[in-house]
Amino acid sequence: MDGSWEPWTPLARRALPAMRAWRTAFHQEPELSLQEERTREKVVRALEELNIPHRTFAEGYGVVGLIGGGRSGPVVALRADMDGLPVTEATGLPFASRFPGRMHACGHDVHMASLLGAAAILQRPPRPLAGPVKLIFQPAEEEGRIGGALALIEQGCLQDPKVDYIVGQHVIPSLPLGQVGWKAGPMMAAADAFRITVRGKGGHAATPHQGPDAVVVASEIVLGMQALVSRVVDPVEPAVVSVGSVHGGTKNNILPDEVVLEGTVRSMSPATRKLLESALRRRVRSIAASLGAKVRIEYITGYPPLVNDPTTTRTVAATLAREFGRDSVVEVPAPVMGAEDFACYLEHVPGTFLRLGVGVSGRPASLHSATFAPDERALVIGAATLAAAAEGLQRGGS
Ligand code: NI
Repeated sequence: MDGSWEPWTPLARRALPAMRAWRTAFHQEPELSLQEERTREKVVRALEELNIPHRTFAEGYGVVGLIGGGRSGPVVALRADMDGLPVTEATGLPFASRFPGRMHACGHDVHMASLLGAAAILQRPPRPLAGPVKLIFQPAEEEGRIGGALALIEQGCLQDPKVDYIVGQHVIPSLPLGQVGWKAGPMMAAADAFRITVRGKGGHAATPHQGPDAVVVASEIVLGMQALVSRVVDPVEPAVVSVGSVHGGTKNNILPDEVVLEGTVRSMSPATRKLLESALRRRVRSIAASLGAKVRIEYITGYPPLVNDPTTTRTVAATLAREFGRDSVVEVPAPVMGAEDFACYLEHVPGTFLRLGVGVSGRPASLHSATFAPDERALVIGAATLAAAAEGLQRGGS
């Protein structure tokens, strides 16, 4: 890039008091996936205060705002997720959750406040911007199966005007505060789930020869599935098959009729994802058949793999290096096996998902923990990241 760059950070810093107030309001009243009604009200009120036109949707509690709708240049969408988690907060913060069993333990309050901060500074830009900026506030990211992104996409959030690029971010304690992480290509896993019901013939445990023993068949299945990753998937492709729950039986000397296995399957590419599903089904059926048992397999498709568009990612990373300096913008080395429904947008438009560092030494709380308390200085960096990414993409990296 050779054009001059005016940083957004000073403007974001000026928006900090407002962002702090928004974040406090979100944090005090977290709502679980598919219940984000009050959160939506707060987002709508903030957009109204900022004079940003917006729409809500028949299905779900999403909100989409639009800045500069009349501009002819590329449309950049910026996305924040809205939901909290079923965790009882133990941070001791003065603005801690008012509700036991509900907490913004994944930082989505920071994501929303940063996006509103970006909106505030993009709404009154210090120089003309080339294209519209769409603000996507998305519910139900933590829901895990269908998620909130899909419903918003189906209701047209990427249309009218049609989105050319999308950018999202997530706080992460493993990256120091002040740093932003990026990764081109696959970054997060597809997360599918299975439920396998093994039907044998129950009876006295002293006469196991009278029918297929569901416990033994289920055990063979658990072990047999371990060979899927080690012997079916290419060794250089990340993949996980884990059984997280095994249920069957009532007493030591009674063989149950049925054992239920539940687990998760993670993969990093659509091809491996398909391969694992078909191989798992085949392996489970053949083990059950060889032992004379019946089996029912429910395979539940979750979020797809999150694959960042390389060109968009590099443009955004170069822009952020100009905004924050090269040392503050780091390539995240390896993909992680967690999942995120931002992946759904990336199946439709090129974009990138960024990591917003919130790590502070001596306060090592992990995401989803009751003591997770990201430093609010991340709000400034989060807002400047989104605003700079939008401008950088609209300028085509120049
Ligand atoms: Ni999250």
